[in-house]
Amino acid sequence: MAETLKFDPLDPLMAERRAAARKKLDAIDPAKQSGAESDPRRRDWFEAVYALAEGDPINVPWGNMVAHPLLVDWLARNPRLDGLRALDIGCGLGDNAVALAGQGAQVTAFDLVPRAAEWAQGRFPDSGIVFCAADLFDPPAEWLGAFDFVHETYTLQALPASLLTQAKEALARLVKPGGRLLVISRARDEEQAGEGPPWPLARSDIEGFSACGMAVESLDDIPATVTPNRHWRVVLRKKASAP
Ligand SMILES: C[S@@+](CC[C@H](N)C(=O)[O-])C[C@H]1O[C@@H](n2cnc3c(N)ncnc32)[C@H](O)[C@@H]1O
Repeated sequence: MAETLKFDPLDPLMAERRAAARKKLDAIDPAKQSGAESDPRRRDWFEAVYALAEGDPINVPWGNMVAHPLLVDWLARNPRLDGLRALDIGCGLGDNAVALAGQGAQVTAFDLVPRAAEWAQGRFPDSGIVFCAADLFDPPAEWLGAFDFVHETYTLQALPASLLTQAKEALARLVKPGGRLLVISRARDEEQAGEGPPWPLARSDIEGFSACGMAVESLDDIPATVTPNRHWRVVLRKKASAP
């Protein structure tokens, strides 16, 4: 699809196509049936999402071709990121990374799926952003403790609960001592059963970042009246003494 055409996932015809694509993806998602143990980190499924999309973002469930509105809103309300080294986790089609770069950050953005990083790079060739393929659980050694500002939207919630502690540790390791991590995720009450994907986070999941040397600096609990689902938008600061 040419990107010059208006892309509106809420348009009824587009919504119908997205729902059809989603149905096909759900049918091959081991997490939606028994068999999740065959692909615990869901690599095969994420690979399949981008392969089956055949270059059409309507087939990527999160491919909205705009930065997440809660990220845009946060960036508008906070000081610019000029000169900061920023990392976008699970960058998908790249729009959130571009929003960070628009605030003056030097952005590296990565995705587990090479095809996603290539797609993002192709959309934004002159952005100055480094788009690359990498695994949150096994990042390049030179990234450890290297970023002033780490951002993640919807990647934690895309991972099963069994990986959450490991994923939070992996995120924290990328932040410089004294640096920040911004997380945007669907939210749930503690007692709500977590039948995913996605697996919305509970407040205790956010507070659990303290075990990784990260302290909550701000926590927005955004009700479903503002966005289609309830969300957390949380900024965590890495303790200066943390490794
Ligand atoms: C739900 S999508 C969100 C994409 C993007 N952040 C957005 O908001 O549009 C989750 C993304 O994380 C990527 N991902 C999943 N596991 C990952 C990992 N271990 N390391 C890096 N990226 C990962 C997926 O390929 C996918 O693009």
